[in-house]
Amino acid sequence: MIRAVVLAAGKGTRMRSSRSKVLHALCGRPMLWHVLRALRDADVSDVLVVGNAEVCGLAPELSSDAGLGSLEVVLQEPQLGTGHAVQIALEKLAPKRGTLLVLNGDLPLVEADLIRRTAATRDGEIAAALVTATMPLPSAFGRIVRGGLDRVAKIVEARDASDDELALDEMNAGLYAYDEAKLRAAIAELRNDNAQGEFYLTDTIGRLVSQGDRVVPILAEDYRSVLGVNDRAELAAATALLNRRLCEHHMRNGVTIVDPARTYLEPDLEIAADATILPNTAIGRRSTIGAHSEIGPNCRIANAKIGEHTIVTESVVLDSTLADFVYVGPFAHIRGGSELGTGVRIGDFVETKAAKLAAGVRAAHLSYLGDTTVGERTNIGAGTITCNYDGVKKNTTTIGKDVFIGSDSALVAPLEIGDGAMTGAGSVVIRDVPPGTRVAGNPARPLAEKEKA
Ligand code: UD1
Ligand code: MG
Repeated sequence: MIRAVVLAAGKGTRMRSSRSKVLHALCGRPMLWHVLRALRDADVSDVLVVGNAEVCGLAPELSSDAGLGSLEVVLQEPQLGTGHAVQIALEKLAPKRGTLLVLNGDLPLVEADLIRRTAATRDGEIAAALVTATMPLPSAFGRIVRGGLDRVAKIVEARDASDDELALDEMNAGLYAYDEAKLRAAIAELRNDNAQGEFYLTDTIGRLVSQGDRVVPILAEDYRSVLGVNDRAELAAATALLNRRLCEHHMRNGVTIVDPARTYLEPDLEIAADATILPNTAIGRRSTIGAHSEIGPNCRIANAKIGEHTIVTESVVLDSTLADFVYVGPFAHIRGGSELGTGVRIGDFVETKAAKLAAGVRAAHLSYLGDTTVGERTNIGAGTITCNYDGVKKNTTTIGKDVFIGSDSALVAPLEIGDGAMTGAGSVVIRDVPPGTRVAGNPARPLAEKEKA
C-alpha cells in the first residue's frame, strides 16, 4: 500500500488570513478536503498530514468527511519550510521500503489519475518522479531545470533563480513520489542558505541527481489542474475551475445547467438527468435533486432532498425534504427540517421551519409555518402565522386535512385544529378547534357560539 505525506502546515502568509491557508474553502469544502478526496480516489489510504495546530485539529474530521477514513497527523511548529515538514513526517513514520508520495496541501485541483500515475512512475532505479507543468510566465513557482529528455536536473525556487532559470516555463507542481530510503538520506542533508531561509524539499532533487540518481518528470496535461493556491486571487481562480469541473460532471450526466459560470456546486451532489439548474443558484451540502425538477434562478439549496418534477424558483431551501411536483417560490424560505409532501405549493414570502406539510397543502402568500404539521389538501390563507414561541419555549401546531385557514389567522400554539375545520379571516386562534368547526374572531370562537353571544 502506498503511503502519502500531505504538507499542510505552512503559514500561508500570502492569504493574509487568521485561518490556515489549507482550510480556506473552494466549492464548499476546505482546500485540504479536496486533496484528501483525490488521495482516496487514488486508493491511497495511508496518509500523514503535516499541519500546524489548527490543521492538526481539523484534519481527522475532514478526512472522514472526504471518505478517506482515519489518517495520522503530525505537528510542525515552527514551520521552517517544505523540507523541514517532510523531515518531521519522516520522524513520525516507521521506515519502509518502496515509494512515499509527498504532496502540497495547497493543490485542491489535483486529480486521482495524476496521483496514481506519479506513484506508478517511481519504480526500481528511479529515485523520484515529480509532476511538472508548462505554464505562462511570469510565475512564482519553482522552475524545473531539465538534465535530458526524461530527466530532471534540479528545481530552482523562483526567488533563488537566475534570469535564465526564470525564463523556463516548466514549473514544479508539488506532487512527488520518492524512493523512501533515498528521500530519508537526502532530507538529512538539506540546508537553508537560500532567499527565504527555509529548508526546501525541492533541494532534495538536485541532491539526488548529483549523487547519480535518476529523477523523472511527469508533465501534467493541463497546468491549471496542478496550480498551487497561495493567495485569494488564486483561490478564486481555482474555485472557478473546480466549479466548472463539477458542473461538467453533472452536465455529462444529463443535467441542464444554463450558465455554469453562474451556478455554484459542491462535491457529492446527486442531480438526476433532465433536471435543470437556472443561473445564480448555489447547491450544496450533499443535496439531491430528482429528474425533471427545475431549480433557480437565484436559489440557495443546502442539505436538501428534492424529488422529481419539483420547481424551486428564487428561494432558499435548507435542511429540508421536498417530494415530487412541489412548487416553491418566488421568495420562499424552507428550512430547519421542513417536509413538503407531493404537490405542495409554497408561494411568495412564506417561511417554513420544521413544518410537515402533507400532499396538496397550499400556503401561497406571506406566512410563517413553524413546528407545524398540516394534513392533506389544507389551504393556509395569506398572512397566516403559527405563533410557535411563547417567549420561553417553542410549541407545536397540528392542523388536520381539508382545513381552510382564513387569511391573516394567528394560530397560537400549542394548538390543534381538526379535519375540515375553518378559521375566519383575521382570527386569533388560542383554543383547539374540533373537526368540522368554524371559528372566527379575537379570540376565535365557534361561529354558532359567537352568533349566540
Ligand atoms: C512550493 C514549491 C515550489 C512549487 C510550488 C507548487 C518548495 C520549496 N517550493 O512552493 O517549487 O512550484 O510549491 O505549488 O517546496 N508547508 C508546510 N510547512 C512549511 C512550509 C510549507 O507544511 O514549513 C506546506 C504548505 O502548507 C503548503 C505546501 O507545503 O501546502 C507548499 O508550501 P508553499 O509555501 O505554498 O510553497 P510554494 O511557495 O507554493
Ligand atoms: Mg504553494
